[in-house]
Amino acid sequence: MGIVICQYDILEIMTDVKYTDGDIKACAPTVIVVMGATGDLTKRKIIPALYKLFVKKHLPEKWAMVGFSRQALSDEEFQERMHDAVSAHSKENLEEKTEREFLKTISYVPGQFQENKDYASLAKELERIDLVWGMCSNKLFYLAVPPDFYKTIFENLDASGLTKPCGDPNWTRVVVEKPFGKNLETAQDIDRALGAVFKEEQIYRIDHYFGKEMVQNMLAFRFSNILFKNIWDNKTIEKIEVRLLETIGIEKRGSFYDGIGALRDVGQNHLLQVLALTTMEHPIEFSAISIRNARLKLLEELHNYTEESVLDNTFRAQYEGYKEEVGVDQNSTTETYFRIKTSLNNSRFEGVPIILEGGKCLGEEQKEVVITLQHPEKCLCPHGKHYKNTIIFHLAPKEGITIRFFAKKAGRGMEVQPRDFTFDFHGTDIATEHVGEYERLLIDCIIGDQTLFVQTKEVQAMWEFVDPIISAWQENKVPLEVYKKGSGEILEKAKL
Ligand code: BG6
Repeated sequence: MGIVICQYDILEIMTDVKYTDGDIKACAPTVIVVMGATGDLTKRKIIPALYKLFVKKHLPEKWAMVGFSRQALSDEEFQERMHDAVSAHSKENLEEKTEREFLKTISYVPGQFQENKDYASLAKELERIDLVWGMCSNKLFYLAVPPDFYKTIFENLDASGLTKPCGDPNWTRVVVEKPFGKNLETAQDIDRALGAVFKEEQIYRIDHYFGKEMVQNMLAFRFSNILFKNIWDNKTIEKIEVRLLETIGIEKRGSFYDGIGALRDVGQNHLLQVLALTTMEHPIEFSAISIRNARLKLLEELHNYTEESVLDNTFRAQYEGYKEEVGVDQNSTTETYFRIKTSLNNSRFEGVPIILEGGKCLGEEQKEVVITLQHPEKCLCPHGKHYKNTIIFHLAPKEGITIRFFAKKAGRGMEVQPRDFTFDFHGTDIATEHVGEYERLLIDCIIGDQTLFVQTKEVQAMWEFVDPIISAWQENKVPLEVYKKGSGEILEKAKL
């Protein structure tokens, strides 16, 4: 029997669960309420992650999930669906007995998001669980619903008293998924509604890129190695590129995607956040506040365009056949690919071009950050060639870091050729210790660590950057090019 101290809640509980050093500490009894529980996100991400955490005994001992959604389902029917989701996404560690125990922790309350009386049924179910446990539990409300429902859900949670913890030191928290609005105005609108009901320390805005092992490794790389510290500025760096190129298309999300486009889907959030981690100053300390503030400061230093300057610095395109996708408007001008050139208004990176690029249905999956260094003032560059070192953070499909340098080719001459130092994550501990993005982020919500969640001001700074670009695009100030599905030709055309 060991005593586990919940780091962030300063709460001691007795538990039979054994923890290894790397394990995340268990916290107090917790119920996660998933609003929109019959949707795709629950099936693909939330349930498989919860199951994995359950198997690893990383969830609190007293643990339950309650699904809340419009469909009229019994507990058993909902559990059956969750079983299908677990089977489809967690094949490698599906163990019948464990899965049965996991499914027993799940119940379901049918309800309309706008119906106040349905929240009373939800409250009843939560009281029932607490009664069985004989104690008041923490409540985590996960909004796996389109943002249009956010406001009404916040209001109804509040009106039904569900946002108030049932005791002290218990908590209630809310998890919201991107997109956080469609522009600055709608994001502020959501924030006002959120802020009227929850305090900032109760709000967890998920950007799943922060849960990626390699994205966190970028911080370790930058702030644990003196080797690179003194070159991380405009005296040495020539260019920074952050890209998220996908081979997959919009899948079955036509109606959602068409109202959003590539820039809002992955640029306004994942790419800008990865850029922030690549270029932010050293946080004062490794606390949630310092890291989030360092990110925020950087995002506020982005060079924002006026609608007029968008033409010369952005490129957008749509893949052939996009307009025929289910749910997409036949006359849609939504971009499925973009490239943006920007810079940072700070002395460290002033003048360094920053390229942000994202797109669907491209020839090759490439999710990476590429730092190109200038060539040395004096260079052993035979034949007048100018070689440049690069540091590449590979986020997917293979996770790792490559440092490209130049070495002499064996033989009598003095020819130099590119060589790589490569750190391949898959050759190391990742296979055994890998923690999925949602696993990590869900546990962080439970233990109350907000480091990997986006704060409201970051959301605003990102919209301030994106809004003028989208407006100019909507006014057709930048032509919409067309590219072939599954080809990389557009990348060549997009050079800015
Ligand atoms: C999501 C976007 O946020 O990120 C998707 O909505 C995109 O369109 C996905 O495919 C990419 O994430 P990952 O983890 O597959 O790189």
